[in-house]
Amino acid sequence: MTASTQQYFSTYRKHIQPFVLAGLFFLGACSTQNQSDNESASRTAKESALNMKLAAGKTLYESNCASCHDSGSSGAPKLGNKEAWHGRMAEGKDVMIKKAITGIDGKIGMMPPRGGNTSLSDEDVKAAILYMTSKINTSSENTSPESPVL
Ligand code: HEC
Repeated sequence: MTASTQQYFSTYRKHIQPFVLAGLFFLGACSTQNQSDNESASRTAKESALNMKLAAGKTLYESNCASCHDSGSSGAPKLGNKEAWHGRMAEGKDVMIKKAITGIDGKIGMMPPRGGNTSLSDEDVKAAILYMTSKINTSSENTSPESPVL
């Protein structure tokens, strides 16, 4: 390399490179920004869909399930009681939903099919269970409202 090309390159570096770098940085910053905007938008959409389901589940729960599950009377696992729900959660959501739909004549107690309201659809029962499981206060298990079992 001759002295003059070397000089050319060093001038190039000094004057151009900062712009190129700034440009790249800017583009990079933009695209991460957009991506996180998109992510948070879809997260917000998911959250509001979930919140609507939870709200519907709460109403269904209150009118059909709370009579037993609020107090835990006659062996019903009490709302929000981690110990009472722990083993049931472990069976998996499908088993829980099925049992709540068909009814339980268990060792611990009796639950009529669909909590006694046969006009509830499977989706209604699911929504009520979604609400119930969202009330189990565990951070390490997959039961928080952000990641409910259903
Ligand atoms: C008449 C009282 C009663 C009502 C009303 C009732 N349950 Fe229950 N539920 C029980 C009892 C008792 C158990 C525990 C039975 C056992 O395990 O022996 C139970 C258990 C459950 C379980 C756990 C199932 C499992 O896998 O162990 C779920 C889920 C559940 N109920 C959902 C509901 C939903 C949803 C409603 C309302 C639509 C509801 N229950 C209404 C008494 C009731």
